[in-house]
Amino acid sequence: MTIDTELGLMTEQLSVFLMQATLPSGDYMKICCIGAGYVGGPTMAMIAHKCSDIQVHVVDINQTRIDAWNSDHLPVYEPGLQEIVEQNRGKNLHFTTEVDEQIRTSDMIFISVNTPTKQYGVGKGRAADLKFVELCARRIAEVAEGHKVIVEKSTLPVRTAETVKRILANASHEATFDVLSNPEFLAEGTAMEDLDSPDRVLIGGESDKAIQMLVDVYAHWVPKERILTTNLWSSELSKLAANAVLAQRISSINAISALCEATQADVDEVAHAIGQDSRIGPKFLKASVGFGGSCFQKDILNMVYLCEFYGLKEVAEYWEQVILMNDHQKQRFARNMVRTMFNTVSGKRIAILGFAFKKDTNDTRESAAIYVCRDLLTEQANLAIYDPKVPESQIRADLEYVFKQENGELAERDRKLIEENVIICNSALEAADQAHGVGIMTEWDEFKDISPAELYEKVFKPAFLFDGRNIMDHKAYIEQGFEVYAIGKGLLNS
Ligand SMILES: NC(=O)c1ccc[n+]([C@@H]2O[C@H](COP(=O)([O-])OP(=O)(O)OC[C@H]3O[C@@H](n4cnc5c(N)ncnc54)[C@H](O)[C@@H]3O)[C@@H](O)[C@H]2O)c1
Repeated sequence: MTIDTELGLMTEQLSVFLMQATLPSGDYMKICCIGAGYVGGPTMAMIAHKCSDIQVHVVDINQTRIDAWNSDHLPVYEPGLQEIVEQNRGKNLHFTTEVDEQIRTSDMIFISVNTPTKQYGVGKGRAADLKFVELCARRIAEVAEGHKVIVEKSTLPVRTAETVKRILANASHEATFDVLSNPEFLAEGTAMEDLDSPDRVLIGGESDKAIQMLVDVYAHWVPKERILTTNLWSSELSKLAANAVLAQRISSINAISALCEATQADVDEVAHAIGQDSRIGPKFLKASVGFGGSCFQKDILNMVYLCEFYGLKEVAEYWEQVILMNDHQKQRFARNMVRTMFNTVSGKRIAILGFAFKKDTNDTRESAAIYVCRDLLTEQANLAIYDPKVPESQIRADLEYVFKQENGELAERDRKLIEENVIICNSALEAADQAHGVGIMTEWDEFKDISPAELYEKVFKPAFLFDGRNIMDHKAYIEQGFEVYAIGKGLLNS
């Protein structure tokens, strides 16, 4: 045995010992996670995988989702997730709809439910809708017995723990609680890597004992110096702040991409040059058709709402600009497609390659592709869409959603527009067959392997390629005869 493995084993034994010392009851710890989504599922799978001495139960009210977690077709696609679930499911990792039973018998309860942007009433379109979090807190207050540590894993507005504590203060069975904030920083597409080796784990709370209990869980595999402890409010705000700063970087480089196109500078060259500055760094400087995903927009809007609530008008306006820039980038891309194809796409087939908001995930929430497709459909284009992981039902549901009116209804005219002008294909080449233009919406690796010659064979001439991710070999496509538009580079053949 090497010194490293020996030390590793000793650290693990020590943390198990410490955890048992802080455990309220029983000889093993039991964790319950409410919400079996993109965060709850992978996060708990990793905890179960790393902590064989902890029983982990992931609960959800959505029976279909739980059935999928218990099947061979998991509801979430992440590289490496399936293997870890298969190794641990039925041993110390369980998926169930028995919410009350698991709340009652667990020592620690994670709340990992969705916190979407509110779609009604005060704060509509900005504030986080906390109804699911409140329902969880009320359920816990109703059924919990003894002492429980409640962990906010969902991304929440600052001071939500205050609300959670007030609800829990009215527990039915004289149960007692500590509330911790433990926001999740994983990125979809690399969730398992991020969970396995996080840059940091953040734990905010008021009770040292409760904080220690959660530190001990992560200490099974995360080096101590990467486990940060703060007060509750810093922890809640840090998650919003991190997403705001990340999204701001994307909007910054996208703003520069528009300027590059106007001045014949090349955004990749500019990004490389500024990224070499150690104060700036190279990451998150990739220009694209715009950011998507369930978090960036929602969390910034949430922060904007908080700023407004606290009377910080100028601060709110500053952060809102990040979203406005992102919307502009998506519209600009669609407009450029139309302009390049002789100012009309009416009746023209356009291949849309990629629908997920980024590669290696099947998540389409707020994907830039949805908005580009909407704008092209409004111009009466025929869309042939292909994504390696997103099912047809999801693509159609997203398009219907984006056309819905204020009252939430889909006009008959828009339903027909989608039905008659969208087909879903099984490969990139099938989508490109007899297309007037090809748009790259997601940076899936397989698109880089497409043969320019084969693609050229399929499409109408002149052949147009619109690279919304700057992943294709532009030179090879130009040599093949394509006219190539790339973000932050403009029309390369002009
Ligand atoms: N997706 C990400 O990349 C990511 C990253 C970091 C943080 N977050 C945050 O984590 C939280 C969860 O996000 P997600 O992407 O996993 O959401 P999700 O929509 O994929 O999953 C949420 C799950 O919670 C379940 N649920 C809702 N109310 C419930 C209740 N009362 N009882 C039991 N189950 C209930 C839903 O059925 C759903 O399956 C959000 O606050 C999000 O902002 C997400």
